[in-house]
Amino acid sequence: MEFDLVIRNGTVATASDVFKADVGVRGGTIAALGAGLGAGAEEIDAAGLLVLPGGVDGHVHFDQPTGDGSVMADDFLTGTRSAAFGGTTTVLPFACQEKGRSLREAVDDYHRRAAGKPVIDYAFHLIVTDPTEQVLGQELPALIREGYTSFKIYMTYDALKLNDRQILEVLDIARSEGAMVMMHAENADCIAWLTEKLERTGQTAPFFHGVSRPRVAEREATHRAISLAELVDVPILIVHVSGADAVEQIRWAQGRGLRIYAETCPQYLFLTADDLGEDGFEGAKCICSPPPRDAANQAVIWDGLTGGAFQIFSSDHAPFHFDGPGGKKVHGDKAPFRCVPNGIPGVETRLPLLFSAGVMTGRMELTKFVELTATNPARMYGLHPRKGTIAVGADADIALWDPARRVTVTNAMLHHNVDYTPYEGMEVTGWPVATISRGAVVCRDGALLVQPGRGEFLPCGLPAPARPKSAPAPVLPF
Ligand code: URP
Ligand code: ZN
Ligand code: ZN
Repeated sequence: MEFDLVIRNGTVATASDVFKADVGVRGGTIAALGAGLGAGAEEIDAAGLLVLPGGVDGHVHFDQPTGDGSVMADDFLTGTRSAAFGGTTTVLPFACQEKGRSLREAVDDYHRRAAGKPVIDYAFHLIVTDPTEQVLGQELPALIREGYTSFKIYMTYDALKLNDRQILEVLDIARSEGAMVMMHAENADCIAWLTEKLERTGQTAPFFHGVSRPRVAEREATHRAISLAELVDVPILIVHVSGADAVEQIRWAQGRGLRIYAETCPQYLFLTADDLGEDGFEGAKCICSPPPRDAANQAVIWDGLTGGAFQIFSSDHAPFHFDGPGGKKVHGDKAPFRCVPNGIPGVETRLPLLFSAGVMTGRMELTKFVELTATNPARMYGLHPRKGTIAVGADADIALWDPARRVTVTNAMLHHNVDYTPYEGMEVTGWPVATISRGAVVCRDGALLVQPGRGEFLPCGLPAPARPKSAPAPVLPF
């Protein structure tokens, strides 16, 4: 046999092209693209299907220690399983440093948590919460060189946030080592002040979570993050951007030629503040930060996606049960919003929601969909061209999509370990029917076909987009 696997008669799409081709896979990588390829040990007829690069979800939280009594509902098995059923073949969760502890400890602990579980490939981002001399001078540079080439820093949350001086110091290391910095941009003092004011008047229901984190608090932090990055001359990626005002700041920075990248997520396209205002505690299901905004704001996020302000579209899957242990009700079903774990599930619904409301409505080109959900995240985090595209030599990470399949999203049909989805009842057109990772069919027609632990850890390269503006010209790979 010429190939291990041949996918025949499908329509292949990359971030630049859509074309009819067979895909020949050998040894886990794509060996040939063309018409009438030779025989494969396994063959899949993809007539009527789209053959897309497997999604790269650049922002997920699996089995991440929280420190507030809550427990994430998904580990590396259930999280990657859910990702695969949603057409994703690579995920990047976060190894989070605990203040007072070393970064290395966090990485070692996170590898232990992952061991034997993932069904698809994964890399780690770091979260730097305690940039001591040791961390900045030794650990962080060493870890970057070992393949942990992106890290997140927070401008809010007491347990995680850095002050401006610390941010500058961390940005400086990213600049000298060539790492990508992901910024959570919300002004902590604005949020704390508003939260206390709301609590004094008894306004503590889930709805007020959104009130406590207004767009202006995100705008201010976004502008500050951009300014600090400009001062240091280092690119940054602003994650989970929710508000029109923050988008304005990002466009302003990009217009000035700064290397400011941005990510948004399904919750800012498909949920609004009204979802936080459901009766009783129900709105806690949609508590995440930044919070969902309103319908007019959703339109601005769509424009940012189609018009180029955003480079990547991630899930920010942060899974907590609603009723189950350690979840949204960990402090009771009348807990003030301040005590409700932040985050919502979405690793499996990320791609179908965007495909349906974007590609199938004509709002977004198929190539743009691939760019935002696979190719660009792979580039931003040093995984391209091994991941995020369909090309000879790339890993055979492929999702076969039935663009005509109509699906009503229900939690029962999803494969995460969470007891709800915020997207219950939404109707979509287009769904991935098979997901292939390094040539192995991970899931097909609703069945999981591989064993836990087959997913490999991916050390990341230095991402080209993280190069400072004033950096010397790169060495060309030819
Ligand atoms: O509410 C959210 N987004 N939780 C996940 C943690 C984060 O800040 O991304
Ligand atoms: Zn965040
Ligand atoms: Zn997150």
